[in-house]
Amino acid sequence: MDRFPSGLTRYDFLDELSRLERASRFDETERNFFDEGPHLISSPELPWGDEVRHLSVAAYERFIHGETWITGGGAREMEADIVAWMGTILGSDDPAGFVTAGGSESNMCAVLTAKQRAGRKGGSIVFPDNGHYSLHKLCRMFDLDPIAVPAPEGRLDQVDPAAIEAAIRPDTIAIVATAGTWAYGSIDPIAEIGAIAEKHDLYLHVDGAFGGYILPFLEIGGYDREMPLWDFRVPGVCSISADLHKNGMAPPPASTLFFRDSGLLELAKEICPPNGTISGTRGTGPIAGAWTMVKLLGTWGYVDVAKKSISMRDQLAAGAAEIPGLLVHPGSRINMTLIHSQTVDLRPVVDRLRDRGWMFAVRAIPAPAGIVLAPMPHNEGQAPAFLDDLADAVAAAPAMPTELRVDAEKVSSYGF
Ligand SMILES: Cc1ncc(COP(=O)(O)O)c(C=O)c1O
Repeated sequence: MDRFPSGLTRYDFLDELSRLERASRFDETERNFFDEGPHLISSPELPWGDEVRHLSVAAYERFIHGETWITGGGAREMEADIVAWMGTILGSDDPAGFVTAGGSESNMCAVLTAKQRAGRKGGSIVFPDNGHYSLHKLCRMFDLDPIAVPAPEGRLDQVDPAAIEAAIRPDTIAIVATAGTWAYGSIDPIAEIGAIAEKHDLYLHVDGAFGGYILPFLEIGGYDREMPLWDFRVPGVCSISADLHKNGMAPPPASTLFFRDSGLLELAKEICPPNGTISGTRGTGPIAGAWTMVKLLGTWGYVDVAKKSISMRDQLAAGAAEIPGLLVHPGSRINMTLIHSQTVDLRPVVDRLRDRGWMFAVRAIPAPAGIVLAPMPHNEGQAPAFLDDLADAVAAAPAMPTELRVDAEKVSSYGF
């Protein structure tokens, strides 16, 4: 066929598709320290990496044809498998939940469940100011007041439980805390916040979008022996979100929302019939892709992946801390590190690194720019080259403008 009905030739079409692909993303094995998707590649520690990734992508493709949530019995089984396995790891003895299209949707479904539990219109939710911006977004959508509790001065990763309790109002329906904060990687004091939630009979949701699929495996693998409790072992925790398309290594869009028990899932279904999710028809490709990861990696595969990711974080953080003028934000317990400065203007550093082909996230706090790296197995071997380029870029950068030094730690973390 010379031309398709639209008039495009096969060649023109593939050319345009490649252009758009290049404009949208780096290849996952390239210099990208902040990506969502199947991040596995083979390495001495993860010899099965490539094969698992390919099988996950192949499974996704096999479930591409209209197997909607409602009709797809196989996808329902896969979803149930994921929920039963991970819900148990998170400490539930009656695991319940579902797969969503991302961390934002998981947070939304959790807060809607809290709304249903409280049985009221409007109201407020209380969360530490380090909470992800999706919390502000859902408040706007659901007519709730966001009560973002500021961090103790100078430590944006820290949370004072007494300040959380003091912020609770008579109309508060839920507290949201985070395990693996964006972009500090810290864990909020969830045991203390859980006790507060119980005392005030409030729903407590834990946003584990980033931390959910790495923290349990660092604990199981014995990497972090001091890890504070943050999951369903804390009595007040009602739900936990965890993104499959982040540290779950699965193709996007895929997150999970877990409830402490099936009773809470029923409440979620009451407010969002028939499944508890915000979307009606759901693509089952992401469920199949995630299920493949879970089936092929299993608990010990995820332990290996977690250790690999965290060792790269350690390498990047240690290297960055040695570069004069740079600071590494303390408190990260996941594969995320925030590099900032109080003396060097990092904005031109960001530009220069990007010119050299590096991808990473940039945060406006601490002002004027923080570099956020979330290394995953596909970043194997990239740390030395990145650190060299970082050192060069910092050496060439101007000093931090004095007016910015003052406010660096005081800005609200909302609006990154
Ligand atoms: C802590 C946290 N919560 C929620 C989200 C939102 O996830 P998504 O972009 O998948 O909706 C993110 C994304 O980075 C996050 O880090």
